[in-house]
Amino acid sequence: MTVREILKMGDPRLLRIAKPVERFDTPEMRELVADMFETMKHANGAGLAAPQIGVDLQLVIYGYDSNVRYPDAPPVPKPVLINPVITLLDGAEVDGWEGCLSVPGLRGVVPRWERIRYTGFDELGNAIDREADGFHARVVQHECDHLIGRLYPTRMRDLTQFGYTSVLFPDMDPNADD
Ligand code: NI
Repeated sequence: MTVREILKMGDPRLLRIAKPVERFDTPEMRELVADMFETMKHANGAGLAAPQIGVDLQLVIYGYDSNVRYPDAPPVPKPVLINPVITLLDGAEVDGWEGCLSVPGLRGVVPRWERIRYTGFDELGNAIDREADGFHARVVQHECDHLIGRLYPTRMRDLTQFGYTSVLFPDMDPNADD
């Protein structure tokens, strides 16, 4: 397992539309998923999308037990989600603070759908079909946005609610600032 370099906003590779995964459960896939979990853990992330390490595939991971960047968020299982499709379960949006490992040191308020259904595949090719709400739904929408070249600042509606984590949340664990 290798901790990979995370691309930062401004890198054009973060703006691509990622390609669908066509072959599952290959040695390359297992290595990619292992590296992504190692990279996410190393950076204290709540999720990571393959394009963030320069891999142009529709693959995201997320989940953690307790996360210093989101101390109040409930635990999320540790899934791998490939070729995802998100559908809206109701039209309500909620605002919430987000950060991104590709936008280090900053947080912004982003509107997201409150309740979604998402489908896709795990790394073995097993079908996934889940409903999610709250923080789980937010993380999935944030990570899947990376697969269509969208970083969260492009989803913001009020840029007065965008700033440095260390200024906005001075009491937060400094490890949360990346
Ligand atoms: Ni992100």
